[in-house]
Amino acid sequence: MIQVENLTVRYIPSGPVAALRELSFRVSAGERVALLGANGAGKSTLLLSLVGVLPAASGSLHIDGTGVEKKTLGEIRQKAGMVFQNPDDQLFMPSVYEDIAFGPRNYGIAEPLIQEHAHSILESLGISHLMNRMSAKLSGGEKRLAALAGVLVMNPLVLLLDEPGSFLDPRSRRRLIGILHGLPQTQLIATHDLDLARKICGRVILLKNGRLAADGETSRILQDTALLEDCGL
Ligand SMILES: Nc1ncnc2c1ncn2[C@@H]1O[C@H](COP(=O)(O)OP(=O)(O)OP(=O)(O)O)[C@@H](O)[C@H]1O
Ligand SMILES: [Mg+2]
Repeated sequence: MIQVENLTVRYIPSGPVAALRELSFRVSAGERVALLGANGAGKSTLLLSLVGVLPAASGSLHIDGTGVEKKTLGEIRQKAGMVFQNPDDQLFMPSVYEDIAFGPRNYGIAEPLIQEHAHSILESLGISHLMNRMSAKLSGGEKRLAALAGVLVMNPLVLLLDEPGSFLDPRSRRRLIGILHGLPQTQLIATHDLDLARKICGRVILLKNGRLAADGETSRILQDTALLEDCGL
């Protein structure tokens, strides 16, 4: 479902430092994979590359068989929904409902259907009361959940989640974990929350300085304290 081959990404095109270096891995349909690594390891860079926000300097990315390129971006963004690390990068409509409805409206879905779907997603996230609030005036955790609702409403094949649990209070975090656990989608979840990784991800991809440091079963990798220490975790 996700295929990354020899991916190198540079923020400064001719610069010597690459944010991702010759990274390769595949994620099968329905897998939930935790993307771990210290601050600056390249997690967000990888997720942004997968939705075509950052171009690859070399190598290739595919989602559900579609290459991530300028001309396929519409298709890629239909297949993969991303929740950004900073929800302020995501929420741009005046109200939470408008934000959630924006994507489905673009696909010409009838308003009553959108409303029904939005209601049920907000309820499952425990934020029905935020429906008509101004997005910009929400708390950090509320923004995070509203951004997630806007992605879930599109029902994409692949979910790319950058720190989905950050800013959440314990109850919202538990609810989030339950929701992600129950979703059938392929998920790649960048997180520092090792407990979340342990609870819902069967597999871990561990980055160190933009390179693949480990890729394997979560229980095995999280037991390897020397490896985690070496990767700054
Ligand atoms: N806009 C940018 N311009 C230049 N360099 C950047 C930019 N964004 C990130 N970087 C650099 O790219 C590298 C990878 O950053 P990235 O944001 O992918 O890390 P991360 O693993 O998501 O970290 P965190 O856990 O802090 O979110 C870092 O060295 C970072 O300083
Ligand atoms: Mg990040």
